[in-house]
Amino acid sequence: MAAKISVMVVDDIRATRDNIRKLIEFHPEMSFAGEAGSAEEAIAKAGELQPDVILMDINMPGMDGIEATNVIAGENPGAIVIIMSVQGEQEYLRKAMVAGAKDYLTKPFTGDELVNAIRQVHANEQRRRKVINFGPKAAEPGKIITVFSTKGGVGKTTIAANLAVAIQQKTGERVGIVDADLQFGDIALFLNIMPRVTIAELVRESEGLDDKVLEGYLTAYGEGVRVLAAPLRPEQAEMVSAASIAAILKVMRAQFRYVIVDTTPSFSEQMLTVLDMSDLVLLVAALDLPTVKNVKLCMEILESLEYPQEKVRLVLNRAHSEGGMDIREAEECLRRKFAATLPSDGKTVVSSVNRGIPFVVSHPDTPVAQKVFALADTIADGGGLKQPEVHGVVGRLRRMFG
Ligand SMILES: Nc1ncnc2c1ncn2[C@@H]1O[C@H](COP(=O)(O)OP(=O)(O)OP(=O)(O)O)[C@@H](O)[C@H]1O
Ligand SMILES: [Mg+2]
Repeated sequence: MAAKISVMVVDDIRATRDNIRKLIEFHPEMSFAGEAGSAEEAIAKAGELQPDVILMDINMPGMDGIEATNVIAGENPGAIVIIMSVQGEQEYLRKAMVAGAKDYLTKPFTGDELVNAIRQVHANEQRRRKVINFGPKAAEPGKIITVFSTKGGVGKTTIAANLAVAIQQKTGERVGIVDADLQFGDIALFLNIMPRVTIAELVRESEGLDDKVLEGYLTAYGEGVRVLAAPLRPEQAEMVSAASIAAILKVMRAQFRYVIVDTTPSFSEQMLTVLDMSDLVLLVAALDLPTVKNVKLCMEILESLEYPQEKVRLVLNRAHSEGGMDIREAEECLRRKFAATLPSDGKTVVSSVNRGIPFVVSHPDTPVAQKVFALADTIADGGGLKQPEVHGVVGRLRRMFG
């Protein structure tokens, strides 16, 4: 039988501690490690008892549960803290998650809710620690291919998910996906995978980030694709700094022959770091005036960052959709030709999203899938892919825009 999950309870109210102790002792999978009536006592006992899971009340006289979580997370990186709070403490909850809590329970909670939360965070932690052997490392650093646009809803995620799967199918190589749409990333939804851990948990990793650590945070899609999913909650996005993204991409490219990055339509520091580290930027456009205008602006900014021309490729999505501009008009306006043109095919694309199966898998013979396969071929051939120079882009942009 697997070892029991040991649980410690921190709450200034004795009756609450007693109730929770009874629930834990009643459960065959769990054992009661001990209790503390204050944050200070919790810090001392966490080191002494080394419980698997700590249930921590937020509001306590003296030091509060958030500060205690912060100290415990720093002193005992293996400890898993679940915060307990009453309703209406949303701001506290956010701070608790930033301090290192892994989950939270709103009081009053049922025995089932308590047990499920403990089970879930414990399973996540076990998974994180387990080193998945994912074959040999790539012989040379992989290519980072970023799907970007300054316009929302143009099909970045659709292209990123399908392109990753298409490249994997075409080359048989290991492909990694980083969902850098940190607030509302939905790569996992497009691939119908259920990440238990995400980039938000990865950046909390206090030990050095290396390939073994990284692997515990990846979610598998099929044999050859691994996804570093976006945080499960939007408020966790701010925990992922530009510096941590840079460190993550560095390790990803050492592990995967191809790394596909999905993005948000902004020039945030995080996105600029992604763009800077990319070998290839697929800039997604559509045939409507606002998108063409924004993509033109985006190209101007990328040009001013002195990226080599071949680093940025224009991809037209939803070509020939009703009421759209003429392709040639758009190319003239953008003063660049589209490197790839994906037709509009709502029936295939939307049904594939709703079923969580990329259309390159569910409808490989459709024109839209064929176009993605062709793009995958070009990328796999290394067409125009060169190691990027490092430009220190954030600093330069700051100088440009004050
Ligand atoms: N070629 C296409 N034909 C028809 N519909 C498409 C096509 N490409 C994308 N779509 C649809 O457009 C919508 C937006 O696509 P997607 O989510 O990929 O865009 P996005 O650029 O990632 O958006 P966001 O900026 O919100 O992340 C989705 O409903 C998708 O199914
Ligand atoms: Mg998207």
